[in-house]
Amino acid sequence: MTPSRLQNSILELKKKKSALILAHYYVDGAVQDIADFVGDSLELARKAAAADADIIVFCGVHFMAETAAILCPGKKVLSPTPGAGCSLADSIKADDLKQWKLAHPDGIIISYVNTTAETKAATDICCTSANAVKVAESVIDGKRPVLFCPDLHLGTYVNRVLGADMEIWNGSCFVHRKITSRLIRRAISEYPAAEILIHPESDCSMDEEIVNNPKCFFYSTSGIIKHVKESSGEQFIIATENGVLHKIRKECPDKRIIPISESAICTYMKKLTLENLYKTLLNETGRITVPEDIASRALVPIHRMLEL
Ligand code: 13P
Ligand code: SF4
Repeated sequence: MTPSRLQNSILELKKKKSALILAHYYVDGAVQDIADFVGDSLELARKAAAADADIIVFCGVHFMAETAAILCPGKKVLSPTPGAGCSLADSIKADDLKQWKLAHPDGIIISYVNTTAETKAATDICCTSANAVKVAESVIDGKRPVLFCPDLHLGTYVNRVLGADMEIWNGSCFVHRKITSRLIRRAISEYPAAEILIHPESDCSMDEEIVNNPKCFFYSTSGIIKHVKESSGEQFIIATENGVLHKIRKECPDKRIIPISESAICTYMKKLTLENLYKTLLNETGRITVPEDIASRALVPIHRMLEL
């Protein structure tokens, strides 16, 4: 089938089954175009929590679909790519977290949503890149240590913004850790008129020169899109996964949008195709479930985050 016939067939099936298609900004543009909602991790978790459809097809990686399944226990959450992992979620296991907590028995644990359900179940409060500063601010009281996992760069960014001293796990995203100070400096010198929009998972949140450069801004994925839409600037370097370029170029066709690197691509997200989305919806395969005892414990830190 051609891409546009596949898109039409997916839209027909979606209508027939009253299904909801959610997609992250990092999946292929052709998939984003037929989703009911495209968002970042926080927006997608909120959409899933509020969904009234019986079938939710989650176009993202496994931990995202798992979060939706935890938030919607009675619904059928389907993933076209149930095996699509995440290097960040893989960087801490629930047992690692329990050991870390043993060394800080009174510690408060903040886990990025990019973690498995088991890790979330051992967590006090979750965060995403869009709300990490707000979440940390809500728990830091100067009395109890705060442990942040798994992303080293996002945690460092939050510490810097808040002047905090959270302990941070040494995990990272294989896409964003390749967005280094060297790449950012090269972009600054090649495009002196451009604004540089940097995801805080990138490996430059410790570089004072970049952090203090008035042309550099640190944002979550949705923050990057908002900045381009609202800025009077004409050129933007996008320092995150390249899937987001699709949405930005659609929303801001007159602005020049330049990726920081052609290889800033999450291969896990790109496993998602129109073909596997169509088959998933047709056959209702790829159901994501979480054992009840883990789901009920993981729901607590996710709810705490969504209530903030
Ligand atoms: P956000 O969706 O919070 O911007 O996170 C980026 C990411 O790497 C998701 O996998
Ligand atoms: Fe995980 Fe990084 Fe891919 Fe996001 S971009 S899913 S954090 S590996």
